[in-house]
Amino acid sequence: MIAKTQELTRMYRLGASVIVAVNKVNLEVKEAAFVSIVGPSGSGKTTLLNLIGLNDRPTSGKVFFKSEDTSLLTDKERRKIRLQNIGFVFQTFNLLPTLTALENVELPLALAKVPPKLQREKAIQLLEAVGLSDRLQHRPKELSSGEMQRVAIARALANNPCLILADEPTGELDSETGYEITKLLLSLCRKHKTTVVVATHDERVAKASDVKYSIRDGMIT
Ligand SMILES: Nc1ncnc2c1ncn2[C@@H]1O[C@H](COP(=O)(O)OP(=O)(O)OP(=O)(O)O)[C@@H](O)[C@H]1O
Ligand SMILES: [Mg+2]
Repeated sequence: MIAKTQELTRMYRLGASVIVAVNKVNLEVKEAAFVSIVGPSGSGKTTLLNLIGLNDRPTSGKVFFKSEDTSLLTDKERRKIRLQNIGFVFQTFNLLPTLTALENVELPLALAKVPPKLQREKAIQLLEAVGLSDRLQHRPKELSSGEMQRVAIARALANNPCLILADEPTGELDSETGYEITKLLLSLCRKHKTTVVVATHDERVAKASDVKYSIRDGMIT
């Protein structure tokens, strides 16, 4: 088991009102699974991924990462788990615009203190694996949106994470490109036994998944 949530709840207070964005969610993510979280806009998908990814802390309830109760950890300890184990992919790619594809992928390797020469070798390998060996020197604005998402996936894989969290990774892509990206995530999941959790509106992504959770008003239905 990679991740598990227990009565996981996240409330936001805005003035006098309280929004329960995630409401007593219990879910389990098994090793090497391709898991989808499907729900309408505002249902709590991003909030849930941020909690599982240890970017945010719950109002109540718990996230276990590889059986460890993460509520007992300091922010520094949580950050370490995140850097070593989790890769993120976002709807809007979140690439750094001034860096080339290669440099974008090297960045997390640099953060993990990989020696520069190895950074370069690894980043080239990763970009090859997502079919972009001929785009190494392109900056994001010189890439198509599907290519940008491939770079983002290569970047997410840089430190060999056991878990990839993808928040609507096909949301900005046309349906054909979105399908290619879904197949890529699925093949990475199968080949490297990487666990993938993907939040999506896209029924085709959901169909490809081993386990599907539906979320509505913060609750798994
Ligand atoms: N920082 C915040 N402060 C207050 N309310 C928030 C905050 N972030 C999210 N919310 C609210 O929490 C609920 C869940 O938001 P969330 O972003 O998790 O939904 P989502 O399922 O990812 O939606 P989408 O599909 O549009 O990305 C929404 O009602 C949203 O308005
Ligand atoms: Mg969202």
